[in-house]
Amino acid sequence: MSFQGKTAIVAGGGGGMGLACVNDLIAAGANLVVIDLKPQPSDLAAGSGDVVYRQGDATDEAFVSEVIDGAAAATGRIDCLVNTTGVLWFDRDKSICDMDMDVWDQVMAINLKSVALTARHAIPHMKKTGGAMVHIASIDAMRGDNKPQDAYGASKAALIRLSKSIAIQFAGDGIRSNTILPGPVLSPMQDRWKDNQSTLDAISDFVPVGRVGTPQDIADACMFLLSDKASFVTGTELIVDGGCLALP
Ligand SMILES: NC(=O)c1ccc[n+]([C@@H]2O[C@H](COP(=O)([O-])OP(=O)(O)OC[C@H]3O[C@@H](n4cnc5c(N)ncnc54)[C@H](O)[C@@H]3O)[C@@H](O)[C@H]2O)c1
Repeated sequence: MSFQGKTAIVAGGGGGMGLACVNDLIAAGANLVVIDLKPQPSDLAAGSGDVVYRQGDATDEAFVSEVIDGAAAATGRIDCLVNTTGVLWFDRDKSICDMDMDVWDQVMAINLKSVALTARHAIPHMKKTGGAMVHIASIDAMRGDNKPQDAYGASKAALIRLSKSIAIQFAGDGIRSNTILPGPVLSPMQDRWKDNQSTLDAISDFVPVGRVGTPQDIADACMFLLSDKASFVTGTELIVDGGCLALP
């Protein structure tokens, strides 16, 4: 797959899945603009295209618009948008009956509003050239949980619906929008598994394919959805979970 001459924005691109997507897009020749709260990671690749890392908050509309308009001004186009920004706050995100509703608002802002903002500012540019968006939701969007993180699950379910709406509204402009629903993936978000081999083994045993996912598993799916190989795919979900959702 070549993304030579194309410009991609990856929000949350300093993290596990986001960074894997960033490095694949760089290897495929794209110009990259990466947004993340974290400082630039040391394993960000170099490539033939321009790579710009912008440390900042994806819920800040002024920052998001400045970054996306700046990328469009510098390269003349925005072809791809990947939204991997997300938080899962185990200690604070609980049942709606027990949680601090300020936490609810913060999770909704980071997991959902950030996507609305990047899409809102990318769409006017994508309308000129066509484009593709991929948003990272979660299999948690598809079911309840007796140990709930209610804000997380609700934000990811809403993200699926938002992506479908974007897909329908802008299909005529050559813009596609899809979500990926990962299962358990060993990334910085799940670092706690690394310190607990028995937990990691138990999760691996639960996953039908017998292992947890890697950021690269998600990047591979993302590259397909961004590419012209997926030109007839829009408004849908790609489940990348090792079979978890297929379990009875
Ligand atoms: N790891 C899993 O098991 C799993 C499973 C399903 C879905 N997901 C989702 O996948 C996506 C990627 O997660 P990951 O597993 O790579 O974890 P991660 O923590 O490595 O990546 C998330 C990134 O988002 C960034 N971020 C958070 N708030 C931000 C903000 N306000 N502005 C800019 N950047 C911000 C973080 O700094 C981090 O780099 C997330 O949306 C997550 O909810 C993860």
